[in-house]
Amino acid sequence: MASMKYYFAPMEGITQYTLRNTHRAMFGEYLSKYYTPFLSAPKTRKFKKREKNDILPVNNDIFPDYTDKIIPQILANSADNFLWAAKEIADMGYKEINLNLGCPVATVVTKHKGSGLLSDPDYLDNMLKEITASDLFTREDHPKFSIKTRLGITDDSEADKLMEIFARYPISELTIHARVQKDFYRGLPRIEAFKRAVEVYRENGGTADICYNGDINSIDDQNRLMDELKDLSSASEDAPGISAIMLGRGLLSNPALARDLATGSSTLTETELKEYLNMLYSGYETFIQEDRNVIFKMLEHWAFINCHFDNSDKCLKAIRKARSKGEYLAAVRNIFSTCNFIS
Ligand SMILES: Cc1cc2nc3c(=O)[nH]c(=O)nc-3n(C[C@H](O)[C@H](O)[C@H](O)COP(=O)(O)O)c2cc1C
Repeated sequence: MASMKYYFAPMEGITQYTLRNTHRAMFGEYLSKYYTPFLSAPKTRKFKKREKNDILPVNNDIFPDYTDKIIPQILANSADNFLWAAKEIADMGYKEINLNLGCPVATVVTKHKGSGLLSDPDYLDNMLKEITASDLFTREDHPKFSIKTRLGITDDSEADKLMEIFARYPISELTIHARVQKDFYRGLPRIEAFKRAVEVYRENGGTADICYNGDINSIDDQNRLMDELKDLSSASEDAPGISAIMLGRGLLSNPALARDLATGSSTLTETELKEYLNMLYSGYETFIQEDRNVIFKMLEHWAFINCHFDNSDKCLKAIRKARSKGEYLAAVRNIFSTCNFIS
């Protein structure tokens, strides 16, 4: 779809700078934004080293426009903590900062962070009020403030109240993962509830761009979604009522997914996939000492990439068993030469 924008979803432990830089170098033309995995904004006023590394200019500035395209995301349970982290990030030049209202993990939720904030709409309302009225987000040339949310905690009707709240504040973009906290990442996305949320948000005067997120893994998935969104009151013939789709696991499985969705055909080649995997390996190698640990990182990708190979169980087993770079590369050469490649 020519008019649709595509974003790389934040995924903790996976979508750090090595993956983002590799992906941008090869497939970046079709992605408008790359979200970082969340950075925790603790009371101690100190980012974890790994999280800070992920946004340091030195790890991102191979693309001069990184402050526009990379969107750091913050996990925080108070306006104060959020604003501390947001200021640190804005001082590095980033132009948009995202608040995580989606993380479903119990240890996060019980601390009133991520989707945990959705359980207390009044508290969330105040938090957003403080954030958007702060000097950081009202000064001239302020960074954009965006939100990634779910539809609620246990029941998607909770979204009505949440959307009323979001509509009160100057949010640049609202990404809605069409699930509730208790769904985690399972089950079908709640498309009807997503549509209702968009309607409620607009009825209440919300003006942010809307981004859809959840299980868009193929051209067929996108076609189905577009068909279902047709009757949104904000939809028109050439615009489906949303301006962007955020892609997560689908992009891990098929790094060319955004290009496929934009062009309407399957485009990933065997040569591209080989190069992509080689670049990832080289990237991880620069900061991970042991071959075995680099291979562990690569296995996280293989868990998704394996869908491109027919009858690949035996070859994948050899990749998993590799203990050295030599063994790993031999096993990868073997899967490419033995198994049928599926685009
Ligand atoms: C391993 C993993 C880590 C994730 N980490 C984050 C995160 O740090 N921040 C966030 O907002 N969402 C996170 N998510 C959720 C994804 O951004 C996305 O909302 C979800 O995977 C649904 O999109 P998809 O069906 O396209 O994968 C994570 C998901 C997974 C599977």
